[in-house]
Amino acid sequence: MEQRHITLGEFIIKRQEDFGYSSGELSRLINSIRLAAKIVSQKVNQAGLVDITGSFGKENIQGEVQQKLDVYANDVFIETLVNRDILCGIGSEENDDFISISGNDKSNTNKYVVLMDPLDGSSNIDVNVSVGTIFSIFRRVTPIGTPVTSEDFLQKGIHQVAAGYVIYGSSTMLVYTTGNGVNGFTLDPALGTFFLSHPNMKITDDGSIYSVNEGNYNQFCDGVKAYLEYCKDDVSKKQYSSRYIGSLVADVHRNMLKGGIYMYPGIKKNPSGKLRLLYECNPFAYIVEQAGGKASDGVNRIMEIEPTDLHQRVPFFCGSKNMVEKAEEFIKASK
Ligand code: AHG
Ligand code: MN
Ligand code: MN
Ligand code: MN
Repeated sequence: MEQRHITLGEFIIKRQEDFGYSSGELSRLINSIRLAAKIVSQKVNQAGLVDITGSFGKENIQGEVQQKLDVYANDVFIETLVNRDILCGIGSEENDDFISISGNDKSNTNKYVVLMDPLDGSSNIDVNVSVGTIFSIFRRVTPIGTPVTSEDFLQKGIHQVAAGYVIYGSSTMLVYTTGNGVNGFTLDPALGTFFLSHPNMKITDDGSIYSVNEGNYNQFCDGVKAYLEYCKDDVSKKQYSSRYIGSLVADVHRNMLKGGIYMYPGIKKNPSGKLRLLYECNPFAYIVEQAGGKASDGVNRIMEIEPTDLHQRVPFFCGSKNMVEKAEEFIKASK
């Protein structure tokens, strides 16, 4: 009989044996993310046929017009995560403040919090281009049984216990790490099962793809401009390709597989850039570092940044180690 891929569920059980997770709560948490990902995936695949495209008509705290799928995905992930009685709190791009979850019984012993971007790449929904979900998991730092506080969410990225993303693309994939490498699972929609398709994902130290919104070129600092000129130099080095999908999940996923650098630098009107530290940059920094790559704000390691606000933004340079270091070199040289 042809050897089949192992399922996400089988992988989690095996990992629990290998790494002896304490109470299996983290496994249950990943399982609940798996269910929510399948529900959102099904809706994404019906976009255009069901009333899930277009704007929801409200603005979120980011000053963005929420898309219907932003709100739908947010509701699905919150409901699924809360129903599993595993968490004590959730922070989301689509919610102004964090959500405190009191367990079914008063002595809530749940010890994990999740920070998430329920639908990443909203501008691509209506044009049928890949979108995603991003999540970051921490253990709470305040006493178990008390209400969560902002301290539980404003933790440095180095304290993440798990991070991952779902990409709703030509296929739906769930990619995550719990600190022992990165593994990718592809959904077989006919079976509704995620199978291990990309074991132990690694990003090459070098690559020849750079991803940036060049529409912002005039607003970049001199160091970023100099690095972009370096990327375009096809005389003294190998020609690079520019690839920018406009979905962080899709751009970084491609660079994970092919090598490359994703950049969202600070710009004049927004020196901290656009991407949010807690539920976009930290989770991808953890994943990319676990795959052998690097993630910085151009100077500092992303996962060492001390958060001060749930929705704070940071400049983001992420991907192949040598490419990120080259960009940092140009930025530091221009300071
Ligand atoms: P979100 O849809 O969750 O708000 O995130 C969008 C982000 C990211 O996915 C993407 O790389 C970036 O915004 C694109 O921004 P620009 O359109 O400014 O390039
Ligand atoms: Mn958004
Ligand atoms: Mn996003
Ligand atoms: Mn989003």
